[in-house]
Amino acid sequence: MSTPPASLPASLPDLLRALPKAELHIHIEGSLEPELIFQLAKRNRVALPYASVEDLRRAYAFSNLQSFLDIYYAGASVLLKEDDFHDMAWAYLLRAKADNVLRAEIFFDPQTHTARGVAMETVVNGLHRACVRAKAELGIDAELILCFLRHLSEAEAFETLEQAMPYLDRIIGVGLDSSEVGHPPEKFAKVFARCGELGLHRVAHAGEEGPPEYIRSALDMLKAERIDHGVQAVKDPDLMRRLARERIPLTVCPLSNLKLCVFPDLAQHNLRQLLDAGLVATVNSDDPAYFGGYMNDNFVEVFAATGMDAKHARQLTLNSFEGSFASAAAKRGYVDRVEETFARFAGSA
Ligand code: HPA
Ligand code: ZN
Repeated sequence: MSTPPASLPASLPDLLRALPKAELHIHIEGSLEPELIFQLAKRNRVALPYASVEDLRRAYAFSNLQSFLDIYYAGASVLLKEDDFHDMAWAYLLRAKADNVLRAEIFFDPQTHTARGVAMETVVNGLHRACVRAKAELGIDAELILCFLRHLSEAEAFETLEQAMPYLDRIIGVGLDSSEVGHPPEKFAKVFARCGELGLHRVAHAGEEGPPEYIRSALDMLKAERIDHGVQAVKDPDLMRRLARERIPLTVCPLSNLKLCVFPDLAQHNLRQLLDAGLVATVNSDDPAYFGGYMNDNFVEVFAATGMDAKHARQLTLNSFEGSFASAAAKRGYVDRVEETFARFAGSA
């Protein structure tokens, strides 16, 4: 593998936009743009407590994770039919294509929908149809990860897993999301163990707002293969060393962290520190419709704010493929595409 050229000719933002990437932390319900929320509300005759798209967008001023989650769950109330889930995922996949995302491992929150009487089958079939279409029409490998809502009980997570049993061939893994503080990973140890027996990959949100102990617990009690967010790890040097040594990927979401006030401004984001400590950190969009940006926006803005360079860009994109659940052969293909992009940029010097 060649190292990147010391000086890159074209602008760094152009390189960042052009680089092939994997997105490993995207909640599909968080890709629902206000325009699509209003369109689906009309189609399904769902009443919204907002007068207009602008009125809804004005409500997107968050002070922490919970203030966002309240609006995010309300937005998802317009999703009723299989086509709604397809249309939402397809809109995201078109945006992903524009940002040179080659692989997307997409979270969905079935309990947000089954609680409203929408069948698991409706949710999974709609999302899966968009994933199949993405491969055929966009050349994107898109896979689904079912997330359990951690503010609900483990018994409810088991019920959700039961409902998903007929569709496990369409799901590559399980995750854990929603309100973090007060709902530590160990609350879900049994259901994650069962998911492991079923051959599902396991990831968990930990250390977004919660303490480093939640990251340890996700690793030790849930056997999480990746940590979603994980930015609080910097508070614990032993944990940092472990994450680097075990090559546990962190799916970091800079604009999300900014909008949910995890960091006061992007210049103080610790992504660069995580990378420089040798962690397998990646860049992701989390809930792009709510946080003001998709993948390339996250890359361009965090690089501008923290002064990272082309070496960081190379590491982040390679990390995204290494950290993915793609096959070893597919990973080699993705890495070749990263190297080709660097060669093309170096050639235009
Ligand atoms: N954290 C926890 N739960 C979530 C998030 C997040 O950033 N986005 C959607 N559900
Ligand atoms: Zn998330």
